[in-house]
Amino acid sequence: MAFLSDTLARVKPSSTIAISNKAREMKASGRDVIALSAGEPDFDTPDTIKRAAIRAIEEGKTKYTAVDGIPELKQAICDKFARENGLSYTPSQITVGTGGKQVLYNALVATLNPGDEVLIPAPYWVSYPDMVLLAGGTPTFVEGNMQTGYKISAEQLEAAITPKTKWFIFNSPSNPSGAAYSRDELKALTDVLLRHPDVWVLSDDMYEHLLFDGREYATPAQVEPALASRTLTVNGVSKAYAMTGWRIGYAGGPETLIKAMAKVQSQSTSNPSSISQYAAVEALTGPQDYIHDSLAVFQRRRDLVVAGLNACPGITCPTPEGAFYVYPSVAGCIGKTSASGVKIVNDEAFASALLEEQGVAVVFGAAFGLSPNFRISYATSDAALTEACRRIRLFCEGLN
Ligand SMILES: Cc1ncc(COP(=O)(O)O)c(C=O)c1O
Repeated sequence: MAFLSDTLARVKPSSTIAISNKAREMKASGRDVIALSAGEPDFDTPDTIKRAAIRAIEEGKTKYTAVDGIPELKQAICDKFARENGLSYTPSQITVGTGGKQVLYNALVATLNPGDEVLIPAPYWVSYPDMVLLAGGTPTFVEGNMQTGYKISAEQLEAAITPKTKWFIFNSPSNPSGAAYSRDELKALTDVLLRHPDVWVLSDDMYEHLLFDGREYATPAQVEPALASRTLTVNGVSKAYAMTGWRIGYAGGPETLIKAMAKVQSQSTSNPSSISQYAAVEALTGPQDYIHDSLAVFQRRRDLVVAGLNACPGITCPTPEGAFYVYPSVAGCIGKTSASGVKIVNDEAFASALLEEQGVAVVFGAAFGLSPNFRISYATSDAALTEACRRIRLFCEGLN
């Protein structure tokens, strides 16, 4: 009898975590490595939020909580959805989990049966397909490319939906491409979804606040209220408030789905950390200037990285509309040989030779379902980004 499950055999470990670990090991062994692989803000969590957590500890708010969130946090989330997204939820339509990741996973485990398909636009966040597989479903894909700004069209969506499609996962601004759909572009997609009443919408709004050049944010249930009864709107505090380690994500959706997700959570993690939940209340209800200040920094870094990469022979880097990632194409480098003799057969070979030869860790595009590309997370200092771009340029100039 096999010890490990058949399901696990179908799943890959997260490539972004694997590459970040490799970069950490190289650094520990004395190599000079710039890691641009992890998707987390380099800023510290704002002090007001830290203080709320310390208060929670001192006041003894250190016990198990209600499975899917304390009432104060659920109310703060309802208020946030109403204030920022024009969405009207009651606390019974809200769930809180250990990161957006657990919320997404709970939703998939609670709803997928063998044979159910989950439609995912590529390039996609690495975890979506594997979460679907772990939950017993089948991921299917619809591809955006550099020419379409890494977005999919209404026609592509229409053609990709099958009678087995249970969920459509929508992520804007996107990890890894930084693509963000305008309200009109999103409306074209929601019009298609209206014609398919059995398809549910999983909107991953994690990068909502990281939208550049004055663009306005829109989420599916807001753009098309008729979809709200089959939409789960997922968000979290990790990226918006530099709180990746606190592990708080949340979602609003129909009560039957929210209850089913709570059942999954009750038998897995019980509840997210009580202390982090109080910190999240402060994040959502306290001063919001961190969001504005960090956005300005990220936009400046985006411009720095886009210009730096477009100066590298063989690389084409479009300007993303949001998030803190760029997703350049390395089509012009494929087939060449690196200074130390590595044949660049694909984007994985590019990223691996770049790490070995120049000590810059990026994640290859195949991990996100669209090649030949790589992803840089520019949530790091201007100095590190400038040096990384210099090294990438050296690497590209050394290709023959
Ligand atoms: C698109 C997207 N969704 C969800 C998450 C999960 O975030 P967390 O679990 O930290 O809330 C991430 C994190 O990288 C992400 O990039």
